Amino acid sequence: MHTATLIAEQVHLKSSSVIGWATGGTMLGVYRSLRDMNLSFQHTRAFNLDEYIGLPAAHPQSYHHYMRHNFFDHVGMPEAQCHIPDGGCDPEHAIAKYEALLAAHGPIDLQLLGLGKNGHIGFNEPGASFNGTVHKTVLSPTTIEANARYFEASTDVPREAITMGIKTILSARKIVLLACGHAKADAVAEMIEGVMSITCPATALQLHDDVTIVLDSAAASELQGCEPS
Ligand code: PGA
Repeated sequence: MHTATLIAEQVHLKSSSVIGWATGGTMLGVYRSLRDMNLSFQHTRAFNLDEYIGLPAAHPQSYHHYMRHNFFDHVGMPEAQCHIPDGGCDPEHAIAKYEALLAAHGPIDLQLLGLGKNGHIGFNEPGASFNGTVHKTVLSPTTIEANARYFEASTDVPREAITMGIKTILSARKIVLLACGHAKADAVAEMIEGVMSITCPATALQLHDDVTIVLDSAAASELQGCEPS
């Protein structure tokens, strides 16, 4: 709810906000809350973090489908203002097109982020350059395993994706990261209290001066000074 309120404040402040959206299980509650707020997103522009390579927009596990089904279709977002990398065409072409759109309409006013168990943000897996722009990436075994629950078999999870790079993410004016559950606790502690390193991509957020991190008590439980729940 708190995350949805931060997004609503951004839209109230600037109805034409450019918002960077995220997918994953954690975000479902955010989209539910935003739908319930009956807020107009009609003048906003959306850029999603990432998309699987090999899944066309209509595929039920594509992030295109996730966003339409969980959010865009419910809040009257004009299709022409919703941008997600195209996982169904030649990746080089899709990357160039996405970079051009970001250059034309950016910077992103507010970027929403989830966090992977391995510290990934978007599909920037451990080892990703902090200087990366939109690019093709290979999913780590941890990410494939975490996302297998959405597919019939883990062998069905695409091995590659197109993602905004860390540099793209850091160029947003404001960042809001949401993490919930014990499985994220180590990555949360590393992100906030660890040494900045490409081994934990989320530590790159230490370079940004306007990041809000929203946690439940389980995700916060490995932070120093936090009582275990
Ligand atoms: P999750 O994914 O919300 O499904 O845990 C978060 C992420 O991988 O960024």
